[in-house]
Amino acid sequence: MSNKKVLISDKASGQQIELPVVRGTEGEPTLDIKGLPSGLGYFTYDPGFAATAACTSQITFIDGGKGILRYRGYPIEQLAERSTFVEVAYLLLNGELPTESKLNAFRDNVKYHTMVHEQLYTFISGFHYDAHPMAMMAGVVGSLAAFYHERFNVNDPEQRMLAAERMIAKMPTIAAACYRHHMGWPMVYPQNNLRFTERFLHMMFSMPSEEYEVSEVAARALDLLFILHADHEQNASTSTVRLVGSTGANPYACVAAGISALWGPAHGGANEAVLAMLAEIGDVSKVPEYIERAKDKNDPFRLMGFGHRVYKHYDPRATIIRAACYEVLDELGQDDPMMDLAMELERIALEDEYFIEKKLYPNVDFYSGIIYKALGIPVSMFTVMFAIARTVGWVSQWLEQCETPTKIGRPRQVYAGPTERRYRALHRRQ
Ligand code: CMC
Repeated sequence: MSNKKVLISDKASGQQIELPVVRGTEGEPTLDIKGLPSGLGYFTYDPGFAATAACTSQITFIDGGKGILRYRGYPIEQLAERSTFVEVAYLLLNGELPTESKLNAFRDNVKYHTMVHEQLYTFISGFHYDAHPMAMMAGVVGSLAAFYHERFNVNDPEQRMLAAERMIAKMPTIAAACYRHHMGWPMVYPQNNLRFTERFLHMMFSMPSEEYEVSEVAARALDLLFILHADHEQNASTSTVRLVGSTGANPYACVAAGISALWGPAHGGANEAVLAMLAEIGDVSKVPEYIERAKDKNDPFRLMGFGHRVYKHYDPRATIIRAACYEVLDELGQDDPMMDLAMELERIALEDEYFIEKKLYPNVDFYSGIIYKALGIPVSMFTVMFAIARTVGWVSQWLEQCETPTKIGRPRQVYAGPTERRYRALHRRQ
């Protein structure tokens, strides 16, 4: 809270009130409007929460104008270059970078929970083989609440941390199991001698009949993508987790709701949509035609992987991923024509008045799919990759919310339906 106040006056009634200004450690000053309904009798209208902060948080900072992203104060560029996903997970959960012994203990905790109840595989096998993996993820993660509900006490910090670590640990196991069910392959249990992303790749692609060596390049690339996707403050899925969490719901149910929110193409589903778009465009010569379509208000087509609610500058994650794309394709000895297509699309869009004026830049999802594809991850699993990484952000934000006095999330509305009218008997209606 700062000492500053903003005077709001209602010209019609002549009434005035002062509203306090809330200041964080960084970022825009924010007006505390809680006193508005009782002071002036007004609610506020902000569909899409374009101008509304719903909570105070110490986890992630974004300056969308300058293209800055920091986890717990650490710039994303430094974490991407020097950290690992597991260390970033510890940082997001606990607020500080771990000492070596704390990191080892955390790694062991996560390893300890990588397996899932055997019955969960039975549940997964109940899905039709071509079910979308995000639909399976939402269902299966939600079902974890059935295994951990009766004895779960949301007011116990130790139990909360245990639930958070369980989810981080189990998400890759469930994701790989969903994929293997789709492929008709036998399930592979987590190998805890492997590191986080190695373990996931092993569960995805190894066969019981053959030796499987995890590619170091692939594990490193995945680790980088997971760091970049780990948290992004109050985005749609995280806000969903917080909203569900504000009711005191089981944390596995909260995260399942987050998975559902992430699936939409305007959010995490964009990485899958980008690849579909690039495949549809097909050739560099067709890029101008699609740019024109994206600008046409009568055409629902949008340039997927472009634009962001908060970034009005290049998404810093996209800068890192674009550079990584070259490295990964080079190291794997691949030459993907989609990379040329994406580069041309970006080049033309960034020179176009429409995209310049609306400040539409490539976002995190624009290039990530090209790396996933190079690693052999199927397109339908792209958003699942995002969910594995974002689980860290969801549970960190959920833990923070549980530690802060929180009211149930309950937005208001502007009612625009019929005013009161009398019920008519069926025979008297036309
Ligand atoms: N292509 C063409 N026009 C666009 C695009 C786009 N990708 N994005 C925004 N616009 C236009 C939009 O038509 C609108 O124009 P006007 O002011 O004339 O009506 C203006 O830019 C503002 O767009 P908006 O939809 O009001 O902005 P928003 O902040 O509500 O939406 C967004 C942000 C990310 C949903 C949107 O940019 C979008 O749909 N992008 C494509 C999907 C995508 O890449 N999503 C991933 C987001 S980043 C990762 C994540 O969140 O998971």
